[in-house]
Amino acid sequence: MPSAPDTLQVSLPMHSYPIFIGSRSASLLAKELRARCSARRATIITDAHVGPTYADTLVTALQCEGFAASLLTIPAGESSKSLCMAAELYDALAELQHRRDEPIIALGGGVIGDLAGFVAATWHRGVPFVQCPTTVEADIDAAIGGKTGVNHPAGKNLIGAFHQPLLVSIDLDYLDSLPTRDFVAGLAESVKHGISLDTQFLEWHEANVAAILRRDREALQLLIHRNCQIKASVVTQDEREAGRSADVGRAALNFGHTVGHALEAQSQYALRHGEAVSLGIIAALDIAVRRLGLPNGERQRCEELLGSLGLPTRLESPVDADVLLERMAADKKNLSPGSRSKGPQGIRFVLTPELGQLEWFMPQVADIRAALDYLGK
Ligand SMILES: NC(=O)c1ccc[n+]([C@@H]2O[C@H](COP(=O)([O-])OP(=O)(O)OC[C@H]3O[C@@H](n4cnc5c(N)ncnc54)[C@H](O)[C@@H]3O)[C@@H](O)[C@H]2O)c1
Ligand SMILES: [Zn+2]
Repeated sequence: MPSAPDTLQVSLPMHSYPIFIGSRSASLLAKELRARCSARRATIITDAHVGPTYADTLVTALQCEGFAASLLTIPAGESSKSLCMAAELYDALAELQHRRDEPIIALGGGVIGDLAGFVAATWHRGVPFVQCPTTVEADIDAAIGGKTGVNHPAGKNLIGAFHQPLLVSIDLDYLDSLPTRDFVAGLAESVKHGISLDTQFLEWHEANVAAILRRDREALQLLIHRNCQIKASVVTQDEREAGRSADVGRAALNFGHTVGHALEAQSQYALRHGEAVSLGIIAALDIAVRRLGLPNGERQRCEELLGSLGLPTRLESPVDADVLLERMAADKKNLSPGSRSKGPQGIRFVLTPELGQLEWFMPQVADIRAALDYLGK
C-alpha cells in the first residue's frame, strides 16, 4: 500500500490547492482529481522520456475513477517549450474535442509543466489543470505557483499566463529514473532558496550533500517538503509578482535568474536551467560582495556547496558580455517599473547583502561585467 502523502496547502485568495508529496501516487492523484472535477475525460500531456515509463499507470488510475484518459506525447527538451508546440497541442485537443470542463494533466519536468499549463490556461480560455511533476526542478519550483508559458527567440518565458493547478501531485519514485545531470540541475533551485531565504536550510544542504546525491529517500522528502513550503509561502504573499517597489515579493524566486536566464538562452539551452541558475547565483553573489558588503567568505561558501553538488561554478567557454547585457535588458522583468532606461544601465537584481536577506539593487554595468569576468576565471 502507498503510504499516506505528506500534504501542504497553497492558500491564495481566489483559489487554494494542495501539494501531495508521496510515492506510488497515481491512484491518489486520480481520486483527488475526481473529488474536484466531474468530467468524464482527461488529457495527459507528457514527453518522450517520461511517457513510456509512467503514463500507463496514470491512465489506468484515471480510468478507475471514471476518466477516459487521452495521452499526448511530445519530444523532450527545452526546445519543445515553444508556441509551435503549443499550436500542435491545440490541434490535438481540437481533434479530441477536449471540452472546457475536462482537465489537462502535465506529467513531466518543468518544460511539460510550463507548456501544458500554458495550453490549459488558453484552451477554451482556461481548463482545469493538474501538475504531476517528475523532476527535482519541477517538484520544488516549476509545478507550484501557477506560472505557465513558452519561450520566444527573444528570451525565456516571454509568452505566458498565470494558471493555478487544481492540485500538485509529487511522487518521489519518479526521481529514481532521472538522469544525474537533470537531478543535479534541479538542486540549484533548492540552494537558491537556502541562500536567499533560509540560511538554516542552506546549512542543512551543507551537512547532507552525500545523502542528497545518493537520492536518500528521507533527505529528498525533507528537501522537497521544505522547498515546497518556501515556494508556497512566497507565492501566497505575492501571487502575481506585483512586488511593490521596495518589496522584493515573489521576485525573491528570481535570485540568480537575471544572469541565469540570459546564459541559458545564450547557450541555446545547451545549459540546463538549473546549471544556468547556479552560475547566475554566483554572479549575483559576486555583485553583492563588490557592492553590498557581503563577506567574500560567504560567496566562497555558496560556491563550494554548488560545486560539491556537481553544479557548474564557472563558465566552460567565454561569453560575449555585450550580448548577455542586451538579453538581460530585453527582459522587462529585469528593469525597474517606471525606469526610463531601456538599456543595460537599468538592469536591476535581487541581491543578498547578507545570506538569507534580499533587496533590490541596480548595479553599474561595470559591476555586471565584472561578475561575468569572475564566472569566466
Ligand atoms: N513555472 C515556473 O515557475 C518555473 C520555475 C522553475 C523552472 N521552470 C522551467 O522549468 C524548465 C526546466 O525544468 P526541468 O529541469 O524539469 O526540465 P525538463 O522538463 O526538460 O526535464 C529535464 C529532462 O529530464 C527528463 N525527465 C523528466 N522527468 C524524468 C524522469 N522522472 N525520469 C527520466 N527522465 C525524466 C525530461 O524528458 C528532460 O529530458 C525550464 O523551462 C524552466 O524555465 C518554470
Ligand atoms: Zn528557476
